[in-house]
Amino acid sequence: MSKLWSALAAGITPYTPGEQPREANLVKLNTNENPYPPSPRALAAIAATPPMRLALYPDPESSALREAIARVHGVSVEEVFAGNGSDEVLGLIFPAYFERKSPIRFADITYSFYPVYAALFGMQCDEIPLNEDFSMPVERLYDAPNGVIIANPNAPTGLALDLDAIRAILRKNERIVVVDEAYVDFGAKSAIPLIREYENLLVVRTLSKSHSLAGMRVGYAVANAKTLEALFRVKNSFNSYPLDALAQAAAAASVLDTKYFEEARGKIVETREWFVKEMHALGFTGPESSANFVFMRHESLSGEAVQRLLRASGVIVRRFERPRIRDYLRITIGAPEQMQRLLDVLQTNS
Ligand SMILES: Cc1ncc(COP(=O)(O)O)c(C=O)c1O
Repeated sequence: MSKLWSALAAGITPYTPGEQPREANLVKLNTNENPYPPSPRALAAIAATPPMRLALYPDPESSALREAIARVHGVSVEEVFAGNGSDEVLGLIFPAYFERKSPIRFADITYSFYPVYAALFGMQCDEIPLNEDFSMPVERLYDAPNGVIIANPNAPTGLALDLDAIRAILRKNERIVVVDEAYVDFGAKSAIPLIREYENLLVVRTLSKSHSLAGMRVGYAVANAKTLEALFRVKNSFNSYPLDALAQAAAAASVLDTKYFEEARGKIVETREWFVKEMHALGFTGPESSANFVFMRHESLSGEAVQRLLRASGVIVRRFERPRIRDYLRITIGAPEQMQRLLDVLQTNS
């Protein structure tokens, strides 16, 4: 703390990202990254970028990338917004659509960055407790005076809402409904096809998970063009060039390489199904995951004990120190050999 800090900087509690350790040989299953490399076309696009491209400012509108995204989702380029990771897109969404005068509604157990953004912008939160089984009490998201944010599938539970529930939430709200689909490619249905039906729908996506591009920082939003204009207005009042030239090129190539994408996500889903069965056999249970992670607890051991045991053997998983979920581990689905290493540690110690 310094007297130079603003009251805002002194008062906020920043988000704590998962550990990014430098040690080699760790099995890193704590931040939901993809164990497979990005599309070779993304790498080729980076290599093909002329050096002078880096001497100039990048396209402020990320037009080629937005065209690629629009093409794969069957929407128009005006219905796509691109940002520096979906975290940045979410950060811009708060001042673009929410007001300070009434609370923003979201689940009590969800992506822990939402309350951090709310605090940064001096906004309040109305956290709706999830049901005992972590399912969403959908009706409690109706008639939200300042809008709603839903992670679908939810993080860290991995549970997905179906499109009927999303439609009901959209119909029962006049304000914005943000659907954060960071993990949708691993098992849930996207709400993107609903954007022309509901002008209060804003879908947020990332290339960090299913496209193996967490290191490039590319996220986007899809919504009705008129709705989306607010996001462009806020972005252009903060940073006109959020995406660098290499990120735009790599992301566009990756998005268009649908064959590679389908194969990579298929492998993750297959590994998840196998891994969950193995974990059940070891006494772990948890909600059914539609994501590239599972959320599980042991029948008798504390979450802290299991996390410590794994860490001592070089396997890192995430745990959240909050009353309802402190015994749960959020385990990223990596490659089969990584998951096998985790299972070996548990098997040896059970
Ligand atoms: C639900 C959810 N939304 C958004 C993000 C942010 O992803 P990125 O900023 O890498 O696009 C994450 C990252 O873990 C997430 O879990």
